[in-house]
Amino acid sequence: MAVIRVNPEDLRERDLALKELVEYFQALKASKGRDITYNVRTYGCQLNESDSEKLCGMLQSMGLKEAREDAPADVIIFNTCAVRENAEDRLFGNLGIVKADKKSDKDKIIAVCGCMTKVPENVEKIKKSFPYVDLVFDPQQLHLFPVFLRDAVGRKKQLVNISAEDYIVDDSLVPIMRKRKFRALVPIMYGCNNFCTYCIVPYARGRERSRDMSEIIDELNKLASQGYKEVMLLGQNVNSYKGSNGERFPDILEAASKIDGFNRIRFMSSHPKDISTEIVDIVSSNPNIETHLHLPLQSGSDRILKLMNRPYNIEDYLKTVHYFREKVPHGSISTDIIVGFPGETEEDFACTLDVVKECEFDSAFTFQYSKRPGTKAALMEDQIPHDVVTERFGRLLAIQNDLAYKSNLAKVGKTEEILIEGRSSTAPDILTGRTLSNHLVNFTIPEELKVEGRSADDYEGMLCDVKFTNARPYSVDGEMVRLK
Ligand code: SAH
Ligand code: SF4
Ligand code: F3S
Repeated sequence: MAVIRVNPEDLRERDLALKELVEYFQALKASKGRDITYNVRTYGCQLNESDSEKLCGMLQSMGLKEAREDAPADVIIFNTCAVRENAEDRLFGNLGIVKADKKSDKDKIIAVCGCMTKVPENVEKIKKSFPYVDLVFDPQQLHLFPVFLRDAVGRKKQLVNISAEDYIVDDSLVPIMRKRKFRALVPIMYGCNNFCTYCIVPYARGRERSRDMSEIIDELNKLASQGYKEVMLLGQNVNSYKGSNGERFPDILEAASKIDGFNRIRFMSSHPKDISTEIVDIVSSNPNIETHLHLPLQSGSDRILKLMNRPYNIEDYLKTVHYFREKVPHGSISTDIIVGFPGETEEDFACTLDVVKECEFDSAFTFQYSKRPGTKAALMEDQIPHDVVTERFGRLLAIQNDLAYKSNLAKVGKTEEILIEGRSSTAPDILTGRTLSNHLVNFTIPEELKVEGRSADDYEGMLCDVKFTNARPYSVDGEMVRLK
């Protein structure tokens, strides 16, 4: 697989297609007598969220308007995830649902992109069972979406375009419509070389390739000047960043922290094999870097880690956790854990529980092992029966839920700065946001701090101090004491 660097000149065809689509959608708008709308439905991780922001940016530049989430739209794009089987099942369910929409409107466009398209079985299934899907294309070729869309429009046959190449595209060459007005997702590297034996991502996202540091810093400077308060440096293994002049991840993190304007610099995911004391030291000495580390453990058993092709052992992992706790005392650590990897014995699982207790994770994403076709683990003997997996999963969850609650409880009585994310989805008068340590906080505004004419939505992206009053299993309650 070759890595292809895309230059502005390479995008001539894309720009031509964009122009043609603007005309096409203008004519469609005139004939329908209403705005032409789009809807991008995103599954999976922040890298997919970031890709969706680019798809939305391109659709906007074609003159389309965004429809509400899940609302019917003229162009519907499913940006899929293949990491576990249930993510795939959701797509096939939803494709079934849009069939009727497509039948009632021949101009409607349905497209599928994202990681599922890199698994040939999925593409075959779409071709066979969902022939009304107009377009299938893969995440490596996102920048060419207008070309594919133009070619798919008006065609009676499904268009499938999956590349064998890994592209690297300067983000400034693709329009981006950022979903949150305070948060910018900034991928710094793409792909993964690790081939953990359970994981589909290296097949879906190709080999590791890093953007140039100068390009990243230019983008960050621009974002800061536009008023973004939070920036998320993204990569499947963000710490494996390698710039073309030998720059490393700590160089990016240091440089980002020196840019005026950002209040929260976040990065994910860190691979335990690449995290260094240097990175933890940078976190501890820069007040605008989030005091949170996402450090996927996967298993607490050295034997299973070896079978997973995760090249670290529990002793090293614990060293990192203890170093972080010592240097960043009010920080938090989250993790990912897989239960029921092939060959996992009760003893292996007991090791995972021991490590979880020792690390006292502030939060954890826990997964039941899902067999991914094409990966090494899918062929391993001794796949664990479903009932054993669910029983172990329940035990892990009970312990981790207590730890998460304990972490939230430790906040009660303190006052900390919150970056406001918006209003709570359950109560319109309650705002929601996060601490520097990434704790989720729901809080009220006392009468004396309320500003006449300002609605809950207007607070998005503002900073305030909140006094924490009560802990819940997954969040902390509080009351605003000062708006900044
Ligand atoms: N690159 C990141 C993780 C990306 S996938 C890292 O290595 O840290 C996010 C998480 O999904 C993984 O950390 C893992 O816990 C989980 N995962 C990946 N493949 C899985 C599978 N086949 N079954 C269950 N969980 C899986
Ligand atoms: Fe998957 Fe492992 Fe790569 Fe993470 S590091 S994306 S778990 S292969
Ligand atoms: Fe899923 Fe692809 Fe992300 S498989 S987790 S969307 S990289």
